[in-house]
Amino acid sequence: LRVAILISGGGSNMMALADSMTGDHPARPCLVLSNDPDAGGLTRAQAMGIPVAAVDHRPFGRDRAAFEALMQTHLTDAGADIIALAGFMRVLTPNFVARHAGRMLNIHPSLLPKYKGLNTHARAIEAGDHEAGCSVHEVTPELDDGPILGQARVPVLPGDSAETLAARVLPMEHTLYPLVLRRFAQGDRSPVLLP
Ligand code: GRF
Repeated sequence: LRVAILISGGGSNMMALADSMTGDHPARPCLVLSNDPDAGGLTRAQAMGIPVAAVDHRPFGRDRAAFEALMQTHLTDAGADIIALAGFMRVLTPNFVARHAGRMLNIHPSLLPKYKGLNTHARAIEAGDHEAGCSVHEVTPELDDGPILGQARVPVLPGDSAETLAARVLPMEHTLYPLVLRRFAQGDRSPVLLP
């Protein structure tokens, strides 16, 4: 199976996913695609020998469909079977999502369904939660919704800031996402729950 990984920034989740697709893993990375031509993850992917592409979303303004149509040409050319959103920060239209229904995953830094959207760690701290974490879900038209394929929990500690909590969650993302992708690629939809 061929996996396209969509990023917007440093691509630490992309790296974890790419590193995991070796040996008897049924999938291999076929493309790393970013909406930001300057995304650090593009350089890291190139260093790993993974084909890369960038479609800058800014010239498209509000025309999301046109932006997505150009992204789609890269996905088609790469022969992507699965799309893994990994720190991808653009909202996708229902049309694009529908086109990839059942074949697109996303990782979100909260214990969904709590804290959809942005600033998840600050919101968990603000709410006085004692647990936080990350979720991998199938992408559906509604933002950060869709069937949960995996979750990893970490404690929220006294004195935590959004930064210290993010630093505790991010490594768990790098453990969770590869586990979920491997199961997903094998047709197994049973959720991965960590620890
Ligand atoms: C991180 O905040 C992570 O929690 C979320 O996307 C952001 C960037 O991740 N999934 P990455 O380093 O670009 O994978």
